[in-house]
Amino acid sequence: MEKILKKPQCHVLTKAKAEGFAPLEHFCAGDPAVGGDIGQAIDEVNKMVRRMFTGEAVKQTIVILEEDGGTLGSGKLVGVCGVRHLKLFETAVGTQAVAALPPGGYINVIGTDQEYRDYKIKKGGTTPGRHLLGRALKQINKEWHGGQMPYVWAAVLKGNEPSNKMFKSQGFRRCDPPFGGFVLRPGRRSTLNLAIQVQVPQSGVQEGMPE
Ligand SMILES: CC(C)(COP(=O)(O)OP(=O)(O)OC[C@H]1O[C@@H](n2cnc3c(N)ncnc32)[C@H](O)[C@@H]1OP(=O)(O)O)[C@@H](O)C(=O)NCCC(=O)NCCS
Repeated sequence: MEKILKKPQCHVLTKAKAEGFAPLEHFCAGDPAVGGDIGQAIDEVNKMVRRMFTGEAVKQTIVILEEDGGTLGSGKLVGVCGVRHLKLFETAVGTQAVAALPPGGYINVIGTDQEYRDYKIKKGGTTPGRHLLGRALKQINKEWHGGQMPYVWAAVLKGNEPSNKMFKSQGFRRCDPPFGGFVLRPGRRSTLNLAIQVQVPQSGVQEGMPE
């Protein structure tokens, strides 16, 4: 039986507003003990959302999805997504190597609470995670003043199938080695041409989420 969210509602929070926002304290994307790439992602997401609550997170815009949500915090927290402005592969190769690139959008973190696995946003509709990612892309577009979308990228472990499906559904594709730990949603053609100018440092590529 398909489980359907009741009155799904997204809200946008600044890092400052997220600090001390009670629902974030109890957010849980699952048990890292499941192991593998999914377990590692769950562990990272739980820690990053916890840092949003304590105020230790990096500067980012936070988009949340609530069930039965009217005003902010009135519903149950379904999902959390943090977006930043960051140049392609900057977390992996360092600021110097990407100096010539235009800035892009970066999905710093995204997760849904374990209570909301196998839910749909409406009958016959998409999943909460995919819906939230779509809303986060809209937020990035807004922060780029509504013009053409910039490129958007994220670190996604290859064995994290639910996450891979979510990113693919929103137009992301996996990058070629040595950047195989990342997914990219292309923006304007000019930005893509510039993107291939990234130099891979001899020290190699740092995979995974940066925080
Ligand atoms: C990634 C995430 C946000 C996706 O949320 P979502 O899109 O709402 O959907 P669900 O988690 O319910 O999973 C949806 C899909 O994954 C599939 N799936 C679930 N568990 C799976 C598993 N262990 N192996 C393979 N596929 C799996 C489901 O069958 C479903 O596929 P379908 O839509 O084609 O039927 C959510 O799974 C999550 O928070 N995961 C833990 C944290 C995480 O990995 N975040 C991303 C870090 S990059």
